[in-house]
Amino acid sequence: MMDKPAILGGEPVSKKPIRFTEILLTQEEKEAVMECLDARHLTSGEYIEKFEKAFAQFIGVRHALAISNGTDALFLSYLALNLTFKKKIITTPLTFIATASSIIHAGAIPIFADVENDGNISPESVRSIMKKEEISAITVVHMYGKPVKLEEFKEICNEAGIPLIEDAAHAHGAEYKGRKIGTWGDIAAFSLYPTKIIAAGGWGGVLTTNNDELYEELILLRAHGELRHIIGPEGAYVYRRLGYNMRMSNIEAAVAYYQLLKINDFIEKRRRNAKLLSEKLIDLPGIEVPREEPNSKHVYYIYAITIDEKKIKWTRDEFVKALNKEGIEAKKGYHIPLHQQEFFRKINDPKVNHFALVNSYPDYSRMHLPNAERLSKTTIWLPMHPNLTEEDIEKIAHAIEKLINWKKRT
Ligand SMILES: Cc1ncc(COP(=O)(O)O)c(C=O)c1O
Repeated sequence: MMDKPAILGGEPVSKKPIRFTEILLTQEEKEAVMECLDARHLTSGEYIEKFEKAFAQFIGVRHALAISNGTDALFLSYLALNLTFKKKIITTPLTFIATASSIIHAGAIPIFADVENDGNISPESVRSIMKKEEISAITVVHMYGKPVKLEEFKEICNEAGIPLIEDAAHAHGAEYKGRKIGTWGDIAAFSLYPTKIIAAGGWGGVLTTNNDELYEELILLRAHGELRHIIGPEGAYVYRRLGYNMRMSNIEAAVAYYQLLKINDFIEKRRRNAKLLSEKLIDLPGIEVPREEPNSKHVYYIYAITIDEKKIKWTRDEFVKALNKEGIEAKKGYHIPLHQQEFFRKINDPKVNHFALVNSYPDYSRMHLPNAERLSKTTIWLPMHPNLTEEDIEKIAHAIEKLINWKKRT
């Protein structure tokens, strides 16, 4: 007897929805927040430095800076590196808008390279763009928690004498050739948005760098360009450069600090869950599971599969809807690559982008990036977080198999 899909009126695989993600907070974080409130240390306070030191140690880098969020962290990186007006920066189109909008906010121009089959930016595509255009920096995104080919990107940047920026929003704790990501680029930007590998007590981000001069510049940029943040109270109300107010609060840092103490456990659980799920899905025709490369550690912030619509006989969008009806919170992910977004089609119109008054952007609608376009139509994100049980994983796999089997019948 073939199970009827819930979307057609059958019984769902899971009556209680299996959540796409969960935020894991314990008593420690709650007590730390109360401690900040009791001490009235709401903005600056001891947890910021404590968190920064612990994060730098975790990544294995000289400096870490707590920032208001991951988007601001990226933005400040470009300003610290003088990547502003008219400079072209290569990045991926298969990502969250912040990867590219932070470039635009800095006054620079994003140029999109294509991606590889795993969704990570392709070094070959980057090289071919660099033969034709003058490029001032490369921003890679370790997509879903899987490191990009960092050695190749370092080589490309070194040959051209340009900086490498890591958008590490998905990839806290991921490793490439035995070294954590966040130590490879000139600067790396992490996000502590609540669903990320670790959370802060609200919005949050972190910058890492091994460069002392960049570190000092970032400290100034983060807080009004005021010298107090470098030389102490004597620098109060003395300003050296245009700065911003993009700090993390003590309360947010207190939560982030206690989350960081648990990060290795979170990562191991994500990896265990991903392995279990892959074992169950790997032999299903028409389903590609995520792969870990040799010498590389994937942290599975997102567990993304790709489907062959012809083989499974479901369209991607219908398959996601059907999984949702089975009680599995799957998503279609980055389903419009950035170069095909309405915003990028209209980017030269000052009404949607005031930087168009000073910059002239390429015609993004003419860009053809076949892999990014294909993946945006065939990818599905499945639930993944440390709290998934073996039973949950069994149900996710069962729901996928059930839907595929139903179509085989017809
Ligand atoms: C790839 C990527 N870059 C940057 C960001 C921005 O981080 P935040 O939300 O902390 O501003 C995100 C956030 O989700 C992201 O996924």
